[in-house]
Amino acid sequence: MTTYTDKGPKPEAGRFVCFDHVTFWVGNAKQAASHYCVRMGFEPFMYKGLETGSRQVAAHVIRQNKIIFVFQSMLEPGKPAEMGAHLVKHGDAVKDVAFEVEDLDAIFKGAVQRGAQVVAEPWEESDENGKVRMARVQTYGDTTHTLIERSGYKGPFLPGYKPAPYTDPVAKALPVIGLEVIDHIVGNQPDLAMTNVAEWYEKTLMFHRFWSIDDKQITTEYSSLRSIVVTNYEETIKMPINEPAPGKRKSQIQEYVDYNGGAGVQHIAMKSSDIITSIKNLKERGQMFLEIPDSYYKLLREKLKSSKVKVTEDMDELQRLRILIDYDDNGYLLQIFTKNQQDRPTMFLEVIQRHNHSGFGAGNFKSLFEAIEGDQAERGNL
Ligand SMILES: [Fe+2]
Repeated sequence: MTTYTDKGPKPEAGRFVCFDHVTFWVGNAKQAASHYCVRMGFEPFMYKGLETGSRQVAAHVIRQNKIIFVFQSMLEPGKPAEMGAHLVKHGDAVKDVAFEVEDLDAIFKGAVQRGAQVVAEPWEESDENGKVRMARVQTYGDTTHTLIERSGYKGPFLPGYKPAPYTDPVAKALPVIGLEVIDHIVGNQPDLAMTNVAEWYEKTLMFHRFWSIDDKQITTEYSSLRSIVVTNYEETIKMPINEPAPGKRKSQIQEYVDYNGGAGVQHIAMKSSDIITSIKNLKERGQMFLEIPDSYYKLLREKLKSSKVKVTEDMDELQRLRILIDYDDNGYLLQIFTKNQQDRPTMFLEVIQRHNHSGFGAGNFKSLFEAIEGDQAERGNL
């Protein structure tokens, strides 16, 4: 495991602020949005579709505190063709990870000069709340990054969207989850593609390496991975990039790549400041998580006895909920991973709580891999 301190040169102009929202292209946006509301505690937020004058694409926007997911589906047979092709190839999947930026022109121009592939040149959209400027570049696989400059806009989301025309009465009967903000978004790459992708972020967006791990540290009997985390200068946007490493059997990263039809977003990690309540309530809502065996906690309790760090949460409760712990001398993190959110063994979610620890759970990767391998074996993919 390596942590990096060199942020590289500070960009002369332009600044990445934070994750803005994540766009999924799915077969049925209405139902997908409802799934994330009922199971994960999001609420209907904004909408566009036939009723608002959007003739080809329906979009259901849901929100939980600062986390915004947009589910989009095509309305007409065969149109837009790109959405249809994406759905056939990837199934329900993340299409775009949007970043809020300052000085869009400087960031876009610099990125293009340094080799970024343009999906859409800067454009402007406006309504009674002001104007938003956006541009879009290509990243790994069919995934894109939309850059959004929204300082001139006072509306709740983006021009063209209307408030969701419905609330979900079921939500009132369900416990609050309390996910606050996106912590990191992970992209899986095919074999030996990770370094190039990490370098793309360094070169074109002027991100820098934050953390990395090689396959010697994350090998189970069967599978392995390598990962490099890249981040913006202010370190507010973390993008881990994974690739499979050779093992006795198929790596879970390779299983993702096979079922996704190439690179794509593997998981979205969301922060909670009370993970015990969040997970208890997510389980009550029927969200399913990877199961870790009791042996993990037995070993962990032993190891923690000789550690400088003190976990303040109730260990019995953490064990009961199957929340994982990773730590060093200065702090610890608590994390848990959902099962895949769709039939394909591709995208899933993570809930994370940090206590002075900025890692990504490397100490848990092995246990996690073993849990995933149990599921992989059931799918006949190990
Ligand atoms: Fe993660």
